[in-house]
Amino acid sequence: MARKKIIAGNWKMNMTPTQAVELCATLKDLVKNDDVDVVYCVPAIDIVPVVAAVKGSNVKVGAENFYIEDKGAFTGEISAPMLIDAGVEYIIIGHSERRDIFGENDILINAKVKKAFAAGLKPILCCGESLALRKAGTYKEWISRQIKWDLSGITADQVKNLVIAYEPIWAIGTGETATAEQAQEVCKLIRDYIAELYDADTAAAVRIQYGGSMNAGNAAELLAMPDIDGGLIGGASLKADFGKIVNYNK
Ligand code: PGA
Repeated sequence: MARKKIIAGNWKMNMTPTQAVELCATLKDLVKNDDVDVVYCVPAIDIVPVVAAVKGSNVKVGAENFYIEDKGAFTGEISAPMLIDAGVEYIIIGHSERRDIFGENDILINAKVKKAFAAGLKPILCCGESLALRKAGTYKEWISRQIKWDLSGITADQVKNLVIAYEPIWAIGTGETATAEQAQEVCKLIRDYIAELYDADTAAAVRIQYGGSMNAGNAAELLAMPDIDGGLIGGASLKADFGKIVNYNK
């Protein structure tokens, strides 16, 4: 069965609740495409108004972060049951900004993937190399190692419902996109590695996104690649252009 494309916006720390509702209104008629799963991953404070704003549409809502415990003395954190109760379906895990700025390591990221599946959230697991690793030529080993650690103890059936986002750090927010060939090379590497860790059926089912300066101008070329099943989009998800990415095939 062909994999359905998944186009997810990662709003990061942008959009007040008022602006979030305005953006949903702007995008409302622009993000309709039955061929594509559309997700807005939004700041915690925007979840409730965004869930209300997209109600009845094809848009699903995701969160950008959560903690692995259900409740308790974890000041500042938000739990999976809270997200689910609010109407969240997807959760970004292991974004390079969480790894680099907030010190999240593969042990925590693995625990988050396990917790997300146990709680009924669909993880979007991010991986990707720095510019230094790209230049050193060791990016393939790096990404395989991230995948291996982050999916430790995760079953084949769970991986079939996983989204993996390949996001080269040197392409995030820089305006420098990986070429379609560079992105395809790593997305295929990830799929082949899933086949090695699990089996061919699991590798055929897992959806792999590219992320890093994807925009209305380059989306069609990237999304035409055989192993690129969608995009995780930062900057371009905050404007009407996001509708053009969602409708890349129209
Ligand atoms: P960008 O961000 O599209 O602004 O490069 C992508 C991401 O970090 O998910």
